[in-house]
Amino acid sequence: MYQIIQQTQDFAKQSLAHAEAGHDWHHANRVWQLAKQIAQDETANLLVVELSALLHDIADYKFNDGDEELGLKKIKSFLTRLEVEEVIVQQVELVIKNVSFKGGQSDPAVKPIELAIVQDADRLDAMGAIGIARAFHFGGYKNRPLYDPKIKADLSMSANRYMKKTSPTINHFYEKLLRLKDKMNTKTGKRLAKDRHRFMEDFLKQFFKEWGE
Ligand code: ADP
Ligand code: NI
Repeated sequence: MYQIIQQTQDFAKQSLAHAEAGHDWHHANRVWQLAKQIAQDETANLLVVELSALLHDIADYKFNDGDEELGLKKIKSFLTRLEVEEVIVQQVELVIKNVSFKGGQSDPAVKPIELAIVQDADRLDAMGAIGIARAFHFGGYKNRPLYDPKIKADLSMSANRYMKKTSPTINHFYEKLLRLKDKMNTKTGKRLAKDRHRFMEDFLKQFFKEWGE
């Protein structure tokens, strides 16, 4: 198992070498560490958790010209080359397909614990100080305004509209980041989310104070 993880780590580092900072190897690494921490208090297949955490953003639609299937194919052929058992590959694929937020509409009816863990880890990395940094980084990358008092947050966005939105970065806190706390699956995830949530609330308070609202 150690060798498989080691090689997957190298593969993720390589595949994410040119990714933007919000989704780069360091993000995959943080999600991997968080997923391992969360898994300590759960009964889960650790190989599935670790592989999914390391590989979860390689298939992202944003980095494969909108084609998620292409990324999944890359992952499957990589794992098959490593001679990872087919049932494990299938579980990893299921986690990766379902981990992304995309407006929060994509949760399957039955959520395997491995998915619950990696989803919590990915969500935690979108919260707190790192979450704030990633949000403004993403907004800058897309040339979005920081904030525009005239543009109100849209709390009922469909997955499709969520993927196409161009609203200011502050709106993203209301449309996604502040909602993550209540979407945590595991008890460790819930506990870690509290502190990160509070930090974002404090940040927003200070932001609006400085803005003069
Ligand atoms: P996931 O981690 O579930 O794949 P995304 O790909 O939507 O989620 O987001 C990755 C990172 O980019 C997160 O930190 C998220 O907050 C940030 N991000 C995504 N969309 C926006 C946006 N419209 N404005 C600001 N930040 C965003
Ligand atoms: Ni991610």
